[in-house]
Amino acid sequence: MKITVVGAGGNVGSTVALTIAQRDFAKEVVLVDLERKDGEKTFYPSKGRALDQWQTSPIFGFDTRLKGVTSYEETAGSDICVITAGLPRRPGMSRDDLLSVNAKIVESVTKSLIQFSPDTIIIVVSNPLDVMTYVAYAASGLPSNKVMGMAGVLDTARYRAFLAEALDISPKDIQALLMGGHGDSMVPLPRYTTVGGIPVTQLIDEATLNAIVERTKTGGGELVGLMGTSAWYAPGAAAAQMVEAIALDQNRIFPVCANLEGQYGYNDIFLGVPVKLGKGGIKQIIEVDLDAEEKAQLDVSAGHVKEIMEAYNRVAGK
Ligand code: LAC
Repeated sequence: MKITVVGAGGNVGSTVALTIAQRDFAKEVVLVDLERKDGEKTFYPSKGRALDQWQTSPIFGFDTRLKGVTSYEETAGSDICVITAGLPRRPGMSRDDLLSVNAKIVESVTKSLIQFSPDTIIIVVSNPLDVMTYVAYAASGLPSNKVMGMAGVLDTARYRAFLAEALDISPKDIQALLMGGHGDSMVPLPRYTTVGGIPVTQLIDEATLNAIVERTKTGGGELVGLMGTSAWYAPGAAAAQMVEAIALDQNRIFPVCANLEGQYGYNDIFLGVPVKLGKGGIKQIIEVDLDAEEKAQLDVSAGHVKEIMEAYNRVAGK
């Protein structure tokens, strides 16, 4: 099993790579990133990260080889590729500017990956997530079960961690579903949240639960506020968990950003929904019952994703 992580000179990509290596299910993880010039000097962040991580192998006890590269030739024959490349928003940049910059990056990365791994599976992590997943899908020419975005595993992890803290209960025993786009209008679903099989609503008061739901929705922003840049440990671990589910054909049920063709009443949109994830990618999109209020919230979230998609179509001249 060969896994490629693009943007692995950065924090999210390198966390994906190291987490995969620590789990020790892959033969090789290739870390791709551009070289970086600084005056006279040239740096190779992907090579540095890979070397540093490989030197943890005797300590953590894994065999997975980590290799840092700057060219796509060396990604050839990858079974799964994770795209974390993209710029953060800079002062003076509009959302549309960021969108068009990152869309160009994701599009060109996808084409380069496909050139050397035509049958790969792609997991997108770059933001704005739902639309970047659509961009990778369009650029790849792959069937839609092989192109997906990572958001729901991260967002439910945040939700579960907050619940575990509030209830003083192991996060392992908290199961939860969250749907919609990876934005502040995402839809955590308390009706589909259980603690050791017990509906969470039987264990927590409504006000505390509502506060946790709201904190989850802005969980990414909370971390930007604390660190001045976006998060990487949980995003990286979440993407690695999706890679593992596919690599080991685990048939895990995860919320994943997937192409919808009529499910939940939506078309032509990538949106977070529960899927069965295993060999080959998305095996099934699961349609759960939503009550009127849940569906209305999902409509709002889907509307926000559509707005970003329209902005992308505008800047891309499509
Ligand atoms: C977050 C970014 C990585 O939610 O999307 O932290």
